[in-house]
Amino acid sequence: MPFFCFFPSQLLPRMWASANFLLVSALLTESLVAERCPQICTCDSIKYQVVCLNKNLTKVPFNILQITKRLVLQDNEITVIPLGTFLSIPYLTHLNLQRCKISSIEEGAFRGLGQLVYLNLASNNIAFIYQESLDGLSSLRQLILENNHIEEIKPGAFGQLGFLSLLNLAKNSLVYLPDMVFQGLQMIKWINLSHNSLNVFANEAFGGLPTLRKLCLHHNELQFFPTEALSRLADINQLDLGHNPITYIGEEAFEMAHLKQLYLDNMALQEISDRAFVRSPLLHTLDLHNNQLLVLQPLTEMVYLKKINLTGNPMPCTCHMRPLKEWADKAKIHIDVVCAGPLAFRGEHLESLQATDMKCKHRTLEEDLPLTMVSRKPEEGAVKCPKGCTCLLDYQHGKCDNKNLLSIPKGFPSNTQLLDLQHNEFHSIPDGSFLGLKNLTSLHLQNCKIEVLQPGAFQDLKTLIYLYLSNNDISSVDADVFRDTTQLAYLFLDHNKFTQIPKDAFSYLSNLFAFYFQHNSISQLPDNALAGMQKLRCLYLTGNRIAHLSPRALRQAKMLEKLHLDENSLQEIPTKALRGLPILNELKLSKNPIKYIGKAAFLPIARSLQHLHLDNMGLEQISSGAFTGLGPNIKSLYLENNRMQNLPNLHGFTALEVINLNDVPFSCDCRLLPLRKWLDNLNLRVGATCGSPANLRNQKVKFVTIFQSCPGWNIKKAKQASLTEAKTRVRSCSK
Ligand SMILES: *[C@@H]1O[C@H](CO)[C@@H](O)[C@H](O)[C@H]1NC(C)=O
Ligand SMILES: *[C@@H]1O[C@H](CO)[C@@H](O)[C@H](O)[C@H]1NC(C)=O
Ligand SMILES: *[C@@H]1O[C@H](CO)[C@@H](O)[C@H](O)[C@H]1NC(C)=O
Ligand SMILES: *[C@@H]1O[C@H](CO)[C@@H](O)[C@H](O)[C@H]1NC(C)=O
Repeated sequence: MPFFCFFPSQLLPRMWASANFLLVSALLTESLVAERCPQICTCDSIKYQVVCLNKNLTKVPFNILQITKRLVLQDNEITVIPLGTFLSIPYLTHLNLQRCKISSIEEGAFRGLGQLVYLNLASNNIAFIYQESLDGLSSLRQLILENNHIEEIKPGAFGQLGFLSLLNLAKNSLVYLPDMVFQGLQMIKWINLSHNSLNVFANEAFGGLPTLRKLCLHHNELQFFPTEALSRLADINQLDLGHNPITYIGEEAFEMAHLKQLYLDNMALQEISDRAFVRSPLLHTLDLHNNQLLVLQPLTEMVYLKKINLTGNPMPCTCHMRPLKEWADKAKIHIDVVCAGPLAFRGEHLESLQATDMKCKHRTLEEDLPLTMVSRKPEEGAVKCPKGCTCLLDYQHGKCDNKNLLSIPKGFPSNTQLLDLQHNEFHSIPDGSFLGLKNLTSLHLQNCKIEVLQPGAFQDLKTLIYLYLSNNDISSVDADVFRDTTQLAYLFLDHNKFTQIPKDAFSYLSNLFAFYFQHNSISQLPDNALAGMQKLRCLYLTGNRIAHLSPRALRQAKMLEKLHLDENSLQEIPTKALRGLPILNELKLSKNPIKYIGKAAFLPIARSLQHLHLDNMGLEQISSGAFTGLGPNIKSLYLENNRMQNLPNLHGFTALEVINLNDVPFSCDCRLLPLRKWLDNLNLRVGATCGSPANLRNQKVKFVTIFQSCPGWNIKKAKQASLTEAKTRVRSCSK
């Protein structure tokens, strides 16, 4: 019997670590390698490495030596990784599966790889990470998923990766990050989400990441700064948001207490509040190169700031920049900027100038810009820009807002990406108004008194993502009006005059993410009202006259997460219409005249719902089974300003962060004892007061003593209560 048979194979790796066994095991592995190296691969017995590079393999070879630590399978054709593929090689520490045309990782595919520290899955065709795709990788430190087709990650997908420190998801197709998507990454330091199409984060998307230090979000499609979502990253040091089309950064936008380095380069920034960063007081380096800033106000509250890079902004070194210059000189901040004007200072560095030399000739900042920077009239050189408009060259923005224009100007540069035409008087948008603007992503037409969108109004706008039509007088749209705008993700039609949902027109909007339709006058939602909008996540219908939702009204919108139906005319909870919405997590029904809530009213969405708004409805009664199914998922519950006198049992609601019971006339007698006991164990302010009996009116349910005489009030409680009461009395006596 050969010598090695005496050692159970699972002991071998441990023995390698000990010098005594080194020689023995080297000899041993050599003989094994000779025996078991897959023919097509190269095996290295010193590094315990097996390399099968570019061999047209369609499967992971089955006869790989059990003691292998490194396996390189790059450039093969392994389209699927089935369950349990690696069970026979449990000592792997490094696994490289780059460029293998993998499109599917079955749940449990990596089970058994408890020692793996590095997994490279870059440049495959992976579109989806299932909840258990990455099970078993309990030691993994680095996970590379760069350059795949991932559109969606389910919360919990990374739940098993408690030791991961680097996650690279760059170059995928993510558009949205749901709440707690990275939950479980207890040790993560670095996440790379660059080169995706992210345009929205749920507020808790970055929840549960206390160790994250560095986040890359450059090259995405963020149009608004996601203050709330990013504020969860209190300990982050470095944030890279470059190459996102954000135009404006408001006051206190950054709320990351330990942020030191911030990259906001190559965006579309036109304005930054001087208080934008005050909630990130440790900021040290601020990179703003290649934006459209004409001026920057001194950031006087930022005492740790040392470097600001402003190169590539069209900033004239005139009196408008003098405050910045004076502040930088005094606070010894290094500011890198090359003057775009006036003529005498063109090309000079701001740092080489004297503040006292920086003067103004004109009244406004724009007038002080050299003509080569901005084009306002068609005659100026070869650069096109319609009369009355401003086109910032190189920055692909056209602006003619607030100009009393009666028709859409023609002749914007063909590479224009953002067009701001709000506050004009167009009345109608004719066919072909934007012909040739093939790269337009954002079109602002708010407050333009528009009544009619002709069928070809948005022809050619194949890359449009944001369409703002709020505050107009539109009452219907032609079925073909969105035929070309299939990439549209955000559609704002709020504050118009619709009396019904124009559903034929929407069948083209298969990529729509958020639909703003609040404050119109629709009275019902018929069957399949959202046909075609398979990816819709947020539907805002606040402030219409909806009295009826057909049971099949929302059937097509299976991805819906937020549904706002507040300020409508519903008389009952539309339970049937809520079926088939598996991820709905926010439902607003406030200010509907619903008097009674019957049994199991929210059961169809009980597994996903987190935020429920039932306030200001005139509710008279909530049946005892009304909340069946709801419980530990619910984070906020709004019931204020209603007329019921009691509530169903809330004992299952263990994760509440907000509950509002203000202005509900609770009947403070023994029937309310379960609620009172529940409140006693709750650490939240709820605002519940008694409405009756008359002598207890407006007193806090939590403090009235009437419950002490109820059967079921236990003795310990009674003692506590009388103690509290005694204390209160003492306090009032001493006064
Ligand atoms: C892999 O397949 C390609 C195309 O069929 C062929 O040219 C190449 O020789 C194959 N490589 C190996 C190692 O078999
Ligand atoms: C993130 O991904 C991009 C694109 O692949 C790459 O250039 C960058 O170095 C990555 N950054 C990190 C921190 O991994
Ligand atoms: C500012 O950014 C530009 C463009 O990337 C770069 O060339 C320059 O070195 C940067 N300046 C500083 C001080 O980092
Ligand atoms: C539109 O964008 C694409 C990709 O960025 C670019 O290649 C093309 O030149 C742009 N078109 C125009 C007219 O600028």
